[in-house]
Amino acid sequence: MTAPPRTSSEMIPMLDLRAQFETIAPEIRAAVEEVLTAQQFVLGPQGEALEREIAEACGVRYSVGVASGTEALELGLHACGVKAGDEVIVPAFTFIATGSAVSALGARPVFADIEPATFNLEPDQIEARITPRTRAIVAVHLFGLSADMDAVLAVAEKHGLPVIEDNAQSFGASCRGRKTGSMGRLGCLSFYPSKNLGAYGDAGMIVTSDEKIAARLRAVRNHGQTGQYLSTERGWNSRLDELQAAILRVKLRHMGEWTAARQAHARLYNSLLADLPGIVLPRVPPGRDHVYYLYTIRVEGRAGGYTRANDRGNEVRSDLVQQLLKERGIASMVYYPVPLHLQPLYALLGGKPGELRVSERAAREVLSIPIYPELTREQVERVAQEVRKAVLEN
Ligand SMILES: Cc1ncc(COP(=O)(O)O)c(C=O)c1O
Repeated sequence: MTAPPRTSSEMIPMLDLRAQFETIAPEIRAAVEEVLTAQQFVLGPQGEALEREIAEACGVRYSVGVASGTEALELGLHACGVKAGDEVIVPAFTFIATGSAVSALGARPVFADIEPATFNLEPDQIEARITPRTRAIVAVHLFGLSADMDAVLAVAEKHGLPVIEDNAQSFGASCRGRKTGSMGRLGCLSFYPSKNLGAYGDAGMIVTSDEKIAARLRAVRNHGQTGQYLSTERGWNSRLDELQAAILRVKLRHMGEWTAARQAHARLYNSLLADLPGIVLPRVPPGRDHVYYLYTIRVEGRAGGYTRANDRGNEVRSDLVQQLLKERGIASMVYYPVPLHLQPLYALLGGKPGELRVSERAAREVLSIPIYPELTREQVERVAQEVRKAVLEN
């Protein structure tokens, strides 16, 4: 069945998984058929093959499939020795799972601020938060861009702390020639359907070159079993199933072309929006490679601390830009409107507005606009044109 033609007035969504499926449907159906024929659904050859392929893609020796990105973080932190009563330093501007994985172990997330230009952990913020209870540091590679890993690793090394990379959003990105996920003690991937490499359900993976950690993770994801019905520690039931693994293997083969398409769209947005006053475009520091899970602009307003005006001298606000875009058929999203230290979940930790100013300001100003491989040049141009109008009319 072919899809109806897309018209220029059609709504442009944040992501169009149906459009992607149309391009790979026969391959996906064949892969699913293979699993159905084999009738092996958990911990089988597809999962093992995917683990090898992802390890190679990330430049690590081992990888361990798990049930989600959240559990990749939880199991990964556990394998690095994080336990109840410990503290783990995490950036405040991220998806809630980065913090809740720490909390799930009974440990306490200690929130640090971010760099304004990249939205990633500010390395200079780490040291002041290290206490005798600090057990690990989580660096998130947000929106498709690596954190400043050399600087993060330097602080971690000085204090003998492991770095866990939350690579849920940046599979395939790199920092000075090294792939995200391969630089810390271990890296955690999410294959949630909307991710650049997304399954057709929940799935995740941990990548590492540490043999002992990999072996422990293999046990821990499967009830702590190290032999048949022999458990050496309390574990989880967190396994990546064969259907998801088979689907992910198909999609992995397309990642090169899909990432290149995302990067081409980003370049086009960059050129079409470069001169627009009142907004700030994504910045990629030298030596880093952005894979554009999201294309996130900042819409600067008075609330952010200083006034940046559009051509007519008006203050520009992200919520108004978002509303105008919606009226003109362009989806946009705020990732993330509430930093972790101000989440109700963490009220007991005593976070106060004004404590982590860069994160709080980012939460007010960010606006992500559609970016996905299947967007056409015309669609990117239409989005850019509507962003321009919305900002100038705001
Ligand atoms: C930064 C970050 N960390 C962790 C996760 C958790 O991944 P999952 O949804 O696969 O549990 C996500 C994804 O949603 C994420 O964006």
